[in-house]
Formats: sequence, structure tokens, C-alpha cells
Amino acid sequence: MSYKITITNSDLTTSEFNANYNETILTAALNAGLAMPHSCNLGVCGACKCKLVKGEVVHQDYNPLALTDDQLASNMILACRAIAKKDSEIELLKPASGIFLTKVYTINKLENSMILKLKLIAKTPFNILPGQYIEVSYKNITRCYSVANLPNHDGFIELYIRRNKGGALSEILWNQLEIGDSLRVKGPFGNFTLRKQYPSPIFMACTGTGFAPIKALIQAIIYRADDKENLNTSYSPDAKPKVILIWGNSQLDFEYWQETLLQLQESKTIDLSIHLCSRKGFSKFASHIANSINYYQGSIVEFISSNHDDLREYMVYTCGNQDTISKIKQLATQLGVCQNNFFADTFLPLTS
Ligand code: FES
Repeated sequence: MSYKITITNSDLTTSEFNANYNETILTAALNAGLAMPHSCNLGVCGACKCKLVKGEVVHQDYNPLALTDDQLASNMILACRAIAKKDSEIELLKPASGIFLTKVYTINKLENSMILKLKLIAKTPFNILPGQYIEVSYKNITRCYSVANLPNHDGFIELYIRRNKGGALSEILWNQLEIGDSLRVKGPFGNFTLRKQYPSPIFMACTGTGFAPIKALIQAIIYRADDKENLNTSYSPDAKPKVILIWGNSQLDFEYWQETLLQLQESKTIDLSIHLCSRKGFSKFASHIANSINYYQGSIVEFISSNHDDLREYMVYTCGNQDTISKIKQLATQLGVCQNNFFADTFLPLTS
């Protein structure tokens, strides 16, 4: 059984799609190739908040800070937790985004992923915050990708695109995209961004290409630490921001990623410890392993639970597949992280 969902965008255009009786409105929208603002997919951040104009939904569990009782009473819903019970109409809140033209500047095809560098050809500024994502449209297919760098500083957008055999857009990009092609991007979206309470010690955990927004956040921390005058007044200039990065990567394009991680570690202004996890282990790369990175055979969740027993002081940022991020959230809560200090950006499994 499914229900018809009609979405009205902030520009008053409408889109329709069907949502199965057991899937959230956000999942159904993304599977239909529509982009809805979202970030955590866990009912924590509020990025997917929208208005139910007609129809009926029920919510799965969510954080009341993401949707207050007053907002619920005025028909606001969280698309990532709302399941339709009738045909429904939804109005998106006005996104602070635009459409920007880019040209493909470089394409770096690794074994399991593609690094795409786009040059912005924009007459208006592209004001993206580190950690946000954009929508990429090519050959009438649209997908969301997190930005892996700081475009406001260099005018480029760097995307990490996992090679997903059979994936609707990733295969087309892999096989057909060429340097110099025009690519339309829309954005920025999402609120997976650095919070003002920074600099608490920061714990970052990601899987696969979930490293993209995490890398942008680390670059932003480095940028802020380099430019100490921009730091908030509670920051002691002598204290280096402490960042722990844990990256679970089962399909490792080892040499490229190790070099990228070492570049982040070159910064002298933050204290960055890096732990790379893979169930397959790293014996294959033994002669190339760098001393400054810790390599762990096992899952990212196993690594965290066997190496950390108290994360109360930390702000936690996580990005990756939904299953792992849910487990990390559970573990972080057990280790004392309060909901307000937990930020997630989750990849939903798409069926096309
Ligand atoms: S609350 Fe729905 S995406 Fe975060």
C-alpha cells in the first residue's frame, strides 16, 4: 500500500511521489529523485522540518528539540521521521539555496570512488558552510553529495562519489562525465555544520564517503585555528583544538586517502589523531602505512567501544551509512554524550 505525497516547494512548484506505508516521507522523496532538505535522518537536527498542509502522518521517535510540541501542534513535521497514513500535501520551508553552474575541472577515478572537482561559474556568491551538501543534476537525475572542501575560499567544489555499481547517477558520472562538462548544482543544504560551542574536544566518526563533510569540518577547524583572531573569546590561543577522527572504510583506495589524511595532519594548529578502521585489515598495505595514523582491523563501532569509555566532554560529528550512524549514536549516548552535542549526517539507502 502506498500514499500520494504532494510537495510544494518554496518557489510554489509542486512535485508528486508515492510513499509506501512503512517508509518515511524523506526516504520516499529521495527514492523518487527529489531533493528534500535533510541532514541527520535520525530526528535530531530539524533540517527536514516542513509543514503538513493536508493529510495525516505518524512520527517515529525524534528529539523534541528538533520538533517542539508547539511546532507539532501547528502542523510542522519531520520528514525523516514522518510516515504518511493518508495521501498528504507538504510545504517545504524556504531553503537558503540557489542554482549554480559549474564546470568539471578534474576527475580522479580511484578503484572504488571518484573525486570530482568542480569550478564554480557563479555571478552570485556561493555561501556554503563546511559540512553542508549540494544537489547535483546530470542527465535528468539528481542526487545529493556532501562538499569535501571549503568552496568559499578557493571557488572549487570537491565531491567524493562512491562508485555504486547500478547506482542511478554514480555510474553515469563515472562513465560519461568529462572534464569541461557543465554541471548544475543546487544548494547549499543541511545543518551538519560546526557549532558555536567549539572548541570543545571534537570526536568525528564517519564511514566511506561520509568522510567528505567531516574533512570539510576539519579544514574549517584548521582554518579557524590558523586565524586565531576569529576564534570566540572562550578559546585559549595556546590550546590546540583536539580532534579525534575515526574513519571506517571497507573499500579502501588506500594510497589516495592516506595522503589526504596526512595532509590534514600537517597542520600544526590542531591536535588531530586519526584512526582508520577496516574489517579487512591493512596487511596488504603494510609497507606503505604511515606511523602517524593508527590502523585498526575491525569496525568503527568496535574501535570506539574498545578504545573509549567516556565522551562526556566531546562534541560528536558523524556521517555515513544509517545503520552505523545509529549504532554510533547509541554508543555515544552510553558514553555520556548529550543529545545537544551529537550531530549526524546520514546516507539513506536508495533503491535506485
Ligand atoms: S531531523 Fe530530519 S534530517 Fe535531521
